[in-house]
Amino acid sequence: MALTIDVSAPLTALQVMQDAPVIPVIVLTDAAQAVLMARALVAGGIRMLEVTLRTPQALACIEAIAKSVPDAVVGAGTVRSAADAQASAAAGARFIVSPGYTSALGQACRDVGLPLLPGVATGSEIMMAQEDGLTELKFFPAMQAGGAAMLKAWGGPFGDVRFCPTGGVTAANATDFLALGNVVCVGGSWLTPADALARGSWAEITALAFQASRLKLPTV
Ligand code: 3PG
Repeated sequence: MALTIDVSAPLTALQVMQDAPVIPVIVLTDAAQAVLMARALVAGGIRMLEVTLRTPQALACIEAIAKSVPDAVVGAGTVRSAADAQASAAAGARFIVSPGYTSALGQACRDVGLPLLPGVATGSEIMMAQEDGLTELKFFPAMQAGGAAMLKAWGGPFGDVRFCPTGGVTAANATDFLALGNVVCVGGSWLTPADALARGSWAEITALAFQASRLKLPTV
């Protein structure tokens, strides 16, 4: 792990981002599978896990990981409303990731005491998040919205913001992002391929996590 942190204490968004070079973005449909997958990722050195609220079983999967995999730190992704944030917190999520930002979502996350990593894709969205006190942001969808060149450009006017680019990031291009001074980590779904999950190929997932955990860490 990049840092020794007390993962049982409330986390900051920066701590979530600094723990490893990659936050896996995960789609799950089965709580038992979720536990085995989480153990496989932890075995590979990745413990901050973003489980997306994209399936009816996602909250049950978050709850199962929170209860059964103490070495993992499970967060909820694809959170789009205050109700999503509340349900995620009730299920045991320790951090929240969203594809965009609203002040209502920011308030909901403060109310439930969880750090929020909100998605932004424009300067105006960055300024709205900053107005609400957020300085660690997800750049989404990273490749489609301008890639590393966009983040480099933002480094001028938004030099005080740190990013987690997500969307189209892969093992092949992750270091292009991680080399930037305003990138702390990246997010991506490549650590948990749907076919590996379906086959229960936990060793494959551990290997992908291990490779991801060894990607170059940023120098911030
Ligand atoms: C998503 O929207 O699923 C995440 O941003 C991950 O994107 P990816 O599948 O391109 O890594």
